[in-house]
Amino acid sequence: MATLDKTQQDAEKLAAALAAVKFVKDGDIVGLGTGSTTTFAIKELGKRVKEGLNIKAAASSIRTEELAKSLGIKILDLGRLSKIDISIDGADEFTESLDLIKGGGGALFREKIIASLSKNAIIITDASKKVKKLGAFTVPVEVIPLAYQYVFDQINQFGGKGILRSVDNKTFITDNGNLIIDADFGLIDDPAKLSVKLNQINGLLAHGLFINITSKVIMSEGTNIIIFE
Ligand code: 5RP
Repeated sequence: MATLDKTQQDAEKLAAALAAVKFVKDGDIVGLGTGSTTTFAIKELGKRVKEGLNIKAAASSIRTEELAKSLGIKILDLGRLSKIDISIDGADEFTESLDLIKGGGGALFREKIIASLSKNAIIITDASKKVKKLGAFTVPVEVIPLAYQYVFDQINQFGGKGILRSVDNKTFITDNGNLIIDADFGLIDDPAKLSVKLNQINGLLAHGLFINITSKVIMSEGTNIIIFE
């Protein structure tokens, strides 16, 4: 994983975001992810909307919805959509085979629904997010509160070390009213297999392994844009 200073990283995030927004067409329903990289894309879309681009959007989090609305982007009810034309979201890690870890911002469940609905699910990143094997970043797992201990113990049995996410010494609560367990599985040899195992745990709403959902990753490195698809 490359180490970048924040200014350089932000420049790369912006460049990847601008490259992704070029794929958005008039009339599209656009899925909007969550996080600092996606924020650059939402701001650019807001500018394009002011210039006359006609889009409607679905938001993966309350903060994304608020930002999009403040920029004049019309927001649709995600629960009513059968398809999304294009989505733009960030990632915490990705591999060249387009497997991802997401959920650093805690929005993984809605992000996964949006990506699953999307004909063209685009991930945008700076160069620091590209890895050979997933797993240096812990796998976020969203869990229904009453199943917390059960899911925690199951993760442990699968060889994961879980930590209940807290921010500023307060338990982190997702937009869906749930908890996040950040699970350390070490470097993951077979993310698809782990994804299937985690999906079988009752009470686990979603996990941050995104396998076979992504259409392309647009990564900015220095002044280059590299597209993995
Ligand atoms: C939020 C996410 C984000 O896309 C991920 O954490 C990357 O965030 P950033 O663009 O701020 O690095 O999955 O749940």
